[in-house]
Amino acid sequence: MNTRPKVFVTRELLPKGMDMLRKSCDVTVGSTEGSLSRSELLQSVKGQDALVATLTEQIDEEVMNANPNLKVISNYAVGYDNIDIAAATRRGIPVTNTPGVLTDATADMAWALLMNAARRVTEADQYTRAGKWSEWSPTLLLGKEVTGSTLGVIGFGRIGRAVARRAKGFDMKVVYYSRTRLGKAEEQEWGVSYRPLDALLQEADFISLHAPLTDETRHLIGREQLRLMKPSAFLINTARGALVDERALTEALREKWIAGAGLDVFEREPHVTEELKRLDNVVLAPHLGSATWETRNEMARLAAENTLAVLRGERPPHLVNE
Ligand code: DGY
Repeated sequence: MNTRPKVFVTRELLPKGMDMLRKSCDVTVGSTEGSLSRSELLQSVKGQDALVATLTEQIDEEVMNANPNLKVISNYAVGYDNIDIAAATRRGIPVTNTPGVLTDATADMAWALLMNAARRVTEADQYTRAGKWSEWSPTLLLGKEVTGSTLGVIGFGRIGRAVARRAKGFDMKVVYYSRTRLGKAEEQEWGVSYRPLDALLQEADFISLHAPLTDETRHLIGREQLRLMKPSAFLINTARGALVDERALTEALREKWIAGAGLDVFEREPHVTEELKRLDNVVLAPHLGSATWETRNEMARLAAENTLAVLRGERPPHLVNE
């Protein structure tokens, strides 16, 4: 009799995790290319012991009802706003995530967008490729000096801190806003000062978002907040699109209430509005924060470890619903 647990992985993940799962489980992969349709997801989850999901699938009551025997939902992401945690908890289904391993990659991406937006790298690339460069000029594509400026970090968890740490290399002043304020000693250790949200928005030259998406943080940055920012300031978002009211941000960029933005995440991914695409003071990326070979392999390992632990009847290393 086959006693190997059945694991449904919605997308083929990197080998480190897939190999671990395949060693002791019967693994079905939903899709090797492109995302699963809703009906494919609802159909495929039936009869499985474990579901390994990515952030593009909404794991809600309907999915859980499709398989009342599901033993674990393992998310291939640190964020888990795609999962109805309350519904999983009511059913006694452990939900897990992949924290820690993507901290540096995501902080690097925030910095890549920050530097790109400040120094107009994408615009410069397009200008050069278009053959528009006819001579060196004292005023060609001038940007904003990063060194010595003020960085505002919103959300001071692992990734926010990694972004702040990198700012030291640029001699920046770092201010942060977070639900919970650090102790004095920790603030000193990190070289950061706390600011209420409005004060941070008014002071910072670069603002980088690192809060989770919850009912409280949805549209944390809207018209009112964008109006508080300096006209020379930049907004960087590598967290979740819905932290920002995208319509308000589009208006702010178009009307130059702020200087620019770097966005890796959007309100209705993968949809990016035509209006945003037309603006040249915003750098756009398709949710690549954790997209390095090393990090995605480690995320796959953690997703597999979490899944296998629950299937063995153990507490998973990264349980979200305590
Ligand atoms: C996450 O992990 O939450 C990122 O958005 C994707 O890696």
